[in-house]
Amino acid sequence: MENNIYNPDFVKGLFNRMSASYERVNYITSFGFSLRWRKQYIASFVSTNEKVQAIDLLTGMGETWRTTKQKLPNATITALDFSEGMLNYANNKNKQKFNSEINIIIQDVLNNQLPDNHFDFVTCAFGLKTFNEEQIKKLAQETKRILKPGGQFSFIEVSKPENFILQKLYGLYIGKMVPLLGRLLLGNPVEYRMLWRYTQEFGNARRASEIFKNAGLNAGFDSYFWGCATGISGSKV
Ligand SMILES: C[S@@+](CC[C@H](N)C(=O)[O-])C[C@H]1O[C@@H](n2cnc3c(N)ncnc32)[C@H](O)[C@@H]1O
Repeated sequence: MENNIYNPDFVKGLFNRMSASYERVNYITSFGFSLRWRKQYIASFVSTNEKVQAIDLLTGMGETWRTTKQKLPNATITALDFSEGMLNYANNKNKQKFNSEINIIIQDVLNNQLPDNHFDFVTCAFGLKTFNEEQIKKLAQETKRILKPGGQFSFIEVSKPENFILQKLYGLYIGKMVPLLGRLLLGNPVEYRMLWRYTQEFGNARRASEIFKNAGLNAGFDSYFWGCATGISGSKV
């Protein structure tokens, strides 16, 4: 088995291999809620018709672009990811559905060339779990660095609910249902089992929200559907 599940090359390889089945994995592992959560997690953003700058970190195949466009219709959207496999699908989506208007860049978010104080909005959906604590610290610093003063951010991740009963149901779901669905629907059960391992290590975004506060951001903890997803949102002072 792998030595370090947080090694960037390991994570990149995982997503490259998973790219063909990712949309289905994501739908299943979020109980089918991921579409709704992608709307909810940016609900606190100020809606504006201004030509703002937005960046979607860990963009995957561009799953968040539509809801960001609805909220910020005239935004210039930059989308960052380091998996060529995921970005192949993102490029196709960009051409077919977004008139090639999204600026897709292939970079490691923890070692990026993004400009300082540039973005009005930073979004990131379902990407926190593959980072360890040190990496989340770096992510918080980078979020602060690239945001304009007053700029807003929101991160969301599938999480382990704190409620005992829900946790039991969740355990049943991930322990029995997901492997079964996985075998029936997905190309590679090994990869999607890894996603669950990350989720269990991650727990929820409470610790990450502290890290974002310690980085000097105005950050709050968010909970969706009784903690089945959690997140961090706020602004740069
Ligand atoms: C679970 S997917 C999320 C995709 C999408 N945001 C969504 O809403 O479904 C996580 C993505 O983060 C990317 N990723 C993980 N670590 C990264 C890093 N250090 N730099 C850039 N991308 C990274 C992976 O390649 C993958 O596409």
